[in-house]
Amino acid sequence: MFCAPVDFPQSLHPEKGRLPVPTSNSGLSPLDFEGIDSAVSAAVADIAVASSLDELKEVRLAHTGDKAPLTQANRQMAEVASHDKAAAGKALGAARAKVSQAVQERQAELENERDARVLVEEAVDVTLPVRSGPHGARHPLNSLQERMVDTFVAMGWEVAEGPEVEAEWYNFDALNFDADHPARQMQDTFFLESPAGTENESSGLVLRTHTSPVQARAMLERSAALLEEGKGIYVVCPGKTFRTDELDATHTPVFHQIEGLAVDTGLTMAHLKGTLDHLARSMFGPEATTRLRPSFFPFTEPSAEMDLTCFVCSGGDAACRTCSGTGWIEWGGCGMTHPHVLRAAGIDPDTYTAFAFGMGIERTLMFRHGVADMRDMVEGDVRFSRQFGMEI
Ligand code: DAH
Repeated sequence: MFCAPVDFPQSLHPEKGRLPVPTSNSGLSPLDFEGIDSAVSAAVADIAVASSLDELKEVRLAHTGDKAPLTQANRQMAEVASHDKAAAGKALGAARAKVSQAVQERQAELENERDARVLVEEAVDVTLPVRSGPHGARHPLNSLQERMVDTFVAMGWEVAEGPEVEAEWYNFDALNFDADHPARQMQDTFFLESPAGTENESSGLVLRTHTSPVQARAMLERSAALLEEGKGIYVVCPGKTFRTDELDATHTPVFHQIEGLAVDTGLTMAHLKGTLDHLARSMFGPEATTRLRPSFFPFTEPSAEMDLTCFVCSGGDAACRTCSGTGWIEWGGCGMTHPHVLRAAGIDPDTYTAFAFGMGIERTLMFRHGVADMRDMVEGDVRFSRQFGMEI
């Protein structure tokens, strides 16, 4: 329901396209008390029958807007003789107050009606059964990787990153691998083909076979700070690594490592052992026992394997299949960074010493949670992940 538009005398619009200019003889006079009363009655009647908030808005504009009779009467107050001003002002003020009160009341009514209607229309039956699919879970390798990184971040180490598609130079040469080192051969490394048309040239790129190339990157990026500020370099780099292995219970072609590198003055094997013991205890509890076993890596001298007490037999079963009865299982490699490696990254081995290590994250998960088959880690079955909790 909408009221008829107010018809204005032509005199209100002296020039088309401009705002109406009130003149002394236009519209409702502030002294026309009867006229004012009937404007109020008309307004109140229209307001009462406005049946929606939109309609009420239009009615309000028609009766209180710029062109409304009461507004025009108000505009003419300036021209009312001073002895009539009080009476005219009072009548007009009361009239306008009545209209705006009527609008407010109707507005409140219509809003209540709307709210009641919306409550009914948009009601949701929370008792209806829902379709519940399985929820996802974080992959345990990711959670564990973060936990391992946290151990180092808590000691003030930085997290470094490097690409998974890596230059052969970083993956091998910078790490003191000879040109004919067996690890470069096709059975271990995924070499990337060069772009079409350049068949005979090597692309010089590989899928990184370990996270160790990040050592060279981290040293090159930070060696200036090392020299200028005398601060050591302490970085960890977790990430994916790739080797041409078949997927079976103990191998997967895509796996994860966490690399660590510390460069400073006066670092020794004792610092390396202390650091890895701390990592072992934070992963496997305060009882974890470790040992360093001499080994060889081109990029460390001396080199060692870090072993843990066997998580199956704790060293008490000569027939244990997990540790082949030795009581120890291999966790990762480590050593004192070779002077060639420091030099390739612009660091003087006569001033600085460094230690480094690389632990397998899959192995850590196997030892920590007794996961016997690596395939469980790559198949993406949420029932496997869920056993490790739903932490996000
Ligand atoms: N990169 C070695 C691997 O993948 C692990 C390793 C050994 C990393 C000794 C190191 C290290 O940083 O010092 O088998």
